[in-house]
Amino acid sequence: MRKKIVAGNWKMNLDYNEGLGVFTEIINMVKDEVTGTQEAVICSPFIHINSLVQLAKGYNKVSVGAQNAHQAESGAYTGEISARMIKSIGAAYVILGHSERRQYFGETNELLAKKTDTVLKHDLRPIFCIGETLEEREANEHFDVIKSQLVEGVFHLDAEQFGKLVLAYEPVWAIGTGVTASSAQAQEIHEFIRKEIAAKYSQEVADNTTILYGGSCNPKNAAELFACPDIDGGLIGGASLKSRDFVDIIKAFN
Ligand code: G3H
Repeated sequence: MRKKIVAGNWKMNLDYNEGLGVFTEIINMVKDEVTGTQEAVICSPFIHINSLVQLAKGYNKVSVGAQNAHQAESGAYTGEISARMIKSIGAAYVILGHSERRQYFGETNELLAKKTDTVLKHDLRPIFCIGETLEEREANEHFDVIKSQLVEGVFHLDAEQFGKLVLAYEPVWAIGTGVTASSAQAQEIHEFIRKEIAAKYSQEVADNTTILYGGSCNPKNAAELFACPDIDGGLIGGASLKSRDFVDIIKAFN
Protein backbone atom coordinates (compact mmCIF):
# COMPACT_ATOMS: atom_id res chain seq x y z
CA MET A 1 0.00 0.00 0.00
CA ARG A 2 1.45 3.36 -0.98
CA LYS A 3 2.31 5.93 1.66
CA LYS A 4 0.10 8.95 2.34
CA ILE A 5 2.16 12.12 2.75
CA VAL A 6 1.41 15.76 3.44
CA ALA A 7 4.50 17.85 2.71
CA GLY A 8 4.86 21.53 3.51
CA ASN A 9 7.02 23.70 1.28
CA TRP A 10 7.93 26.81 3.23
CA LYS A 11 9.63 28.34 0.15
CA MET A 12 11.67 31.46 1.15
CA ASN A 13 9.61 32.27 4.25
CA LEU A 14 10.12 32.31 8.04
CA ASP A 15 13.38 33.37 9.68
CA TYR A 16 15.26 30.85 11.80
CA ASN A 17 13.40 31.45 15.08
CA GLU A 18 10.01 31.70 13.40
CA GLY A 19 10.66 28.42 11.61
CA LEU A 20 11.61 26.60 14.82
CA GLY A 21 8.49 27.96 16.50
CA VAL A 22 6.10 26.83 13.75
CA PHE A 23 7.80 23.43 13.52
CA THR A 24 7.58 22.85 17.28
CA GLU A 25 3.86 23.61 17.16
CA ILE A 26 3.42 21.22 14.22
CA ILE A 27 5.21 18.38 16.03
CA ASN A 28 3.12 18.84 19.17
CA MET A 29 -0.15 18.96 17.26
CA VAL A 30 0.76 15.92 15.14
CA LYS A 31 1.65 13.98 18.28
CA ASP A 32 -1.64 14.86 19.98
CA GLU A 33 -4.04 14.83 17.06
CA VAL A 34 -2.92 12.68 14.13
CA THR A 35 -4.09 9.11 14.51
CA GLY A 36 -3.48 7.73 11.01
CA THR A 37 -0.32 6.47 9.36
CA GLN A 38 0.18 9.49 7.09
CA GLU A 39 3.59 11.14 7.19
CA ALA A 40 4.13 14.89 7.61
CA VAL A 41 7.16 16.45 5.93
CA ILE A 42 8.41 20.01 6.22
CA CYS A 43 10.70 21.21 3.43
CA SER A 44 12.29 24.26 4.96
CA PRO A 45 14.97 26.69 3.82
CA PHE A 46 18.43 25.12 4.18
CA ILE A 47 19.38 27.03 7.32
CA HIS A 48 16.53 25.52 9.33
CA ILE A 49 17.02 21.89 8.39
CA ASN A 50 19.60 20.80 10.96
CA SER A 51 17.61 22.19 13.89
CA LEU A 52 14.30 20.83 12.60
CA VAL A 53 15.82 17.35 12.28
CA GLN A 54 16.92 17.57 15.94
CA LEU A 55 13.44 18.69 17.02
CA ALA A 56 11.81 15.85 15.04
CA LYS A 57 13.92 13.11 16.65
CA GLY A 58 11.66 10.54 18.24
CA TYR A 59 8.61 11.57 16.19
CA ASN A 60 8.39 9.06 13.37
CA LYS A 61 5.40 10.78 11.75
CA VAL A 62 7.35 13.97 11.00
CA SER A 63 10.26 14.26 8.55
CA VAL A 64 12.31 17.12 7.17
CA GLY A 65 13.35 17.93 3.63
CA ALA A 66 15.12 20.51 1.48
CA GLN A 67 13.67 22.48 -1.41
CA ASN A 68 16.53 22.03 -3.88
CA ALA A 69 19.95 20.44 -4.32
CA HIS A 70 22.76 20.94 -6.81
CA GLN A 71 23.33 18.28 -9.44
CA ALA A 72 27.11 18.05 -8.87
CA GLU A 73 28.71 16.03 -6.10
CA SER A 74 30.84 18.97 -4.86
CA GLY A 75 33.07 21.68 -6.26
CA ALA A 76 33.39 25.36 -7.13
CA TYR A 77 29.69 26.29 -7.18
CA THR A 78 29.54 29.32 -4.91
CA GLY A 79 26.35 29.54 -2.91
CA GLU A 80 25.08 26.07 -3.75
CA ILE A 81 24.22 23.12 -1.48
CA SER A 82 24.94 19.47 -2.36
CA ALA A 83 22.81 16.39 -1.81
CA ARG A 84 25.59 14.92 0.34
CA MET A 85 25.44 17.94 2.67
CA ILE A 86 21.67 17.64 2.95
CA LYS A 87 21.93 13.95 3.74
CA SER A 88 24.64 14.57 6.32
CA ILE A 89 22.31 16.62 8.52
CA GLY A 90 19.57 14.01 8.53
CA ALA A 91 17.04 15.32 6.01
CA ALA A 92 14.98 12.67 4.25
CA TYR A 93 13.44 14.44 1.23
CA VAL A 94 14.37 17.01 -1.44
CA ILE A 95 11.82 18.86 -3.57
CA LEU A 96 12.97 18.89 -7.20
CA GLY A 97 11.47 20.57 -10.22
CA HIS A 98 9.14 22.93 -8.42
CA SER A 99 7.59 25.27 -11.01
CA GLU A 100 9.23 28.25 -9.28
CA ARG A 101 12.65 26.65 -9.87
CA ARG A 102 11.68 25.91 -13.47
CA GLN A 103 10.36 29.45 -14.03
CA TYR A 104 12.78 31.68 -12.09
CA PHE A 105 15.96 29.59 -12.21
CA GLY A 106 15.62 28.08 -15.67
CA GLU A 107 15.59 24.47 -14.49
CA THR A 108 14.90 22.15 -17.41
CA ASN A 109 13.79 18.53 -17.47
CA GLU A 110 17.33 17.60 -18.53
CA LEU A 111 18.89 19.34 -15.53
CA LEU A 112 16.26 17.87 -13.22
CA ALA A 113 17.08 14.36 -14.44
CA LYS A 114 20.67 14.95 -13.26
CA LYS A 115 19.53 16.39 -9.94
CA THR A 116 17.26 13.38 -9.43
CA ASP A 117 20.19 11.00 -9.99
CA THR A 118 22.39 12.87 -7.51
CA VAL A 119 19.71 13.09 -4.85
CA LEU A 120 18.91 9.38 -5.15
CA LYS A 121 22.59 8.50 -5.03
CA HIS A 122 22.70 10.06 -1.57
CA ASP A 123 19.71 8.09 -0.41
CA LEU A 124 17.35 11.05 -0.24
CA ARG A 125 13.79 10.84 -1.59
CA PRO A 126 12.99 13.38 -4.31
CA ILE A 127 9.56 14.99 -4.25
CA PHE A 128 9.51 15.54 -7.99
CA CYS A 129 7.09 18.26 -9.17
CA ILE A 130 5.30 18.36 -12.50
CA GLY A 131 2.44 20.46 -13.81
CA GLU A 132 1.20 22.64 -16.63
CA THR A 133 0.81 26.39 -16.94
CA LEU A 134 -2.54 28.04 -17.59
CA GLU A 135 -1.59 28.68 -21.24
CA GLU A 136 -0.72 25.01 -21.69
CA ARG A 137 -4.03 23.91 -20.18
CA GLU A 138 -6.01 26.36 -22.29
CA ALA A 139 -4.21 25.06 -25.38
CA ASN A 140 -5.17 21.52 -24.29
CA GLU A 141 -1.49 20.59 -24.00
CA HIS A 142 -1.53 19.60 -20.32
CA PHE A 143 -1.31 15.85 -20.85
CA ASP A 144 1.61 16.24 -23.30
CA VAL A 145 3.45 18.61 -20.97
CA ILE A 146 3.10 16.28 -18.01
CA LYS A 147 4.15 13.27 -20.06
CA SER A 148 7.30 15.11 -21.25
CA GLN A 149 8.16 16.13 -17.70
CA LEU A 150 7.91 12.49 -16.64
CA VAL A 151 9.74 11.04 -19.64
CA GLU A 152 12.58 13.58 -19.64
CA GLY A 153 12.83 14.08 -15.87
CA VAL A 154 12.44 10.68 -14.23
CA PHE A 155 11.63 7.85 -16.66
CA HIS A 156 15.35 7.18 -17.21
CA LEU A 157 15.39 5.61 -13.72
CA ASP A 158 15.13 1.88 -13.29
CA ALA A 159 12.10 0.57 -11.43
CA GLU A 160 13.93 0.25 -8.13
CA GLN A 161 15.16 3.84 -8.21
CA PHE A 162 11.81 5.12 -9.46
CA GLY A 163 10.19 3.44 -6.47
CA LYS A 164 11.98 5.88 -4.16
CA LEU A 165 10.33 8.95 -5.75
CA VAL A 166 7.35 10.89 -4.54
CA LEU A 167 5.62 12.76 -7.38
CA ALA A 168 3.73 16.00 -6.93
CA TYR A 169 1.24 17.30 -9.49
CA GLU A 170 1.07 21.07 -9.18
CA PRO A 171 -0.85 22.95 -11.86
CA VAL A 172 1.08 26.22 -12.07
CA TRP A 173 -2.15 28.21 -12.32
CA ALA A 174 -3.21 26.92 -8.89
CA ILE A 175 0.00 27.75 -6.98
CA GLY A 176 -0.43 30.62 -4.55
CA THR A 177 -3.43 31.91 -6.48
CA GLY A 178 -6.26 30.68 -4.27
CA VAL A 179 -7.61 28.86 -7.34
CA THR A 180 -7.49 25.13 -6.55
CA ALA A 181 -7.88 22.52 -9.25
CA SER A 182 -11.25 20.87 -8.75
CA SER A 183 -10.99 17.39 -7.29
CA ALA A 184 -12.16 16.05 -10.67
CA GLN A 185 -9.43 17.96 -12.55
CA ALA A 186 -6.76 16.82 -10.09
CA GLN A 187 -7.94 13.20 -10.09
CA GLU A 188 -7.97 13.14 -13.91
CA ILE A 189 -4.29 14.12 -14.03
CA HIS A 190 -3.24 11.84 -11.15
CA GLU A 191 -4.94 8.90 -12.90
CA PHE A 192 -3.13 9.82 -16.13
CA ILE A 193 0.23 9.97 -14.29
CA ARG A 194 -0.37 6.58 -12.70
CA LYS A 195 -1.29 5.06 -16.08
CA GLU A 196 1.92 6.44 -17.61
CA ILE A 197 3.94 4.89 -14.76
CA ALA A 198 2.18 1.55 -15.28
CA ALA A 199 2.93 1.66 -19.02
CA LYS A 200 6.59 2.50 -18.43
CA TYR A 201 7.28 0.23 -15.43
CA SER A 202 4.44 -1.98 -14.18
CA GLN A 203 1.05 -1.75 -12.51
CA GLU A 204 2.73 -2.71 -9.24
CA VAL A 205 5.19 0.20 -9.44
CA ALA A 206 2.32 2.55 -10.36
CA ASP A 207 0.18 1.33 -7.47
CA ASN A 208 3.06 1.91 -5.04
CA THR A 209 3.87 5.47 -6.19
CA THR A 210 2.76 8.28 -3.89
CA ILE A 211 1.39 11.18 -5.98
CA LEU A 212 0.70 14.44 -4.13
CA TYR A 213 -1.49 17.32 -5.25
CA GLY A 214 -0.25 20.90 -4.78
CA GLY A 215 -1.82 24.28 -5.48
CA SER A 216 -3.91 26.32 -3.04
CA CYS A 217 -4.67 23.27 -0.93
CA ASN A 218 -6.15 24.34 2.41
CA PRO A 219 -8.03 22.88 5.40
CA LYS A 220 -11.37 23.43 3.61
CA ASN A 221 -10.60 21.62 0.34
CA ALA A 222 -8.07 18.98 1.50
CA ALA A 223 -10.54 16.26 2.50
CA GLU A 224 -12.29 16.30 -0.90
CA LEU A 225 -8.97 16.23 -2.78
CA PHE A 226 -7.48 13.48 -0.58
CA ALA A 227 -10.61 11.34 -1.00
CA CYS A 228 -9.82 10.93 -4.73
CA PRO A 229 -8.49 7.44 -5.46
CA ASP A 230 -5.23 8.55 -7.08
CA ILE A 231 -4.42 11.49 -4.77
CA ASP A 232 -2.14 10.37 -1.93
CA GLY A 233 -1.67 13.66 -0.11
CA GLY A 234 -0.57 17.21 -0.71
CA LEU A 235 2.36 19.54 -1.28
CA ILE A 236 1.32 22.59 0.67
CA GLY A 237 2.78 26.07 0.27
CA GLY A 238 1.07 29.00 2.03
CA ALA A 239 -1.00 26.89 4.43
CA SER A 240 2.13 25.08 5.70
CA LEU A 241 3.37 28.33 7.27
CA LYS A 242 0.54 28.19 9.82
CA SER A 243 0.78 25.20 12.14
CA ARG A 244 -2.98 24.98 12.73
CA ASP A 245 -3.84 24.99 9.02
CA PHE A 246 -1.07 22.55 8.12
CA VAL A 247 -2.03 20.03 10.79
CA ASP A 248 -5.71 20.34 9.85
CA ILE A 249 -4.70 19.42 6.28
CA ILE A 250 -2.74 16.42 7.60
CA LYS A 251 -5.83 15.42 9.56
CA ALA A 252 -7.96 15.48 6.41
CA PHE A 253 -6.85 11.81 6.18
CA ASN A 254 -7.97 10.84 9.72
O1 G3H B 1 4.97 23.66 -3.17
C1 G3H B 1 3.85 24.08 -2.93
C2 G3H B 1 3.02 24.65 -3.95
O2 G3H B 1 3.72 25.53 -4.73
C3 G3H B 1 1.67 25.12 -3.52
O3 G3H B 1 1.70 26.41 -2.99
O4 G3H B 1 -0.21 25.97 -1.47
O5 G3H B 1 0.78 28.26 -1.67
O6 G3H B 1 -0.57 27.27 -3.55
P1 G3H B 1 0.35 27.02 -2.38
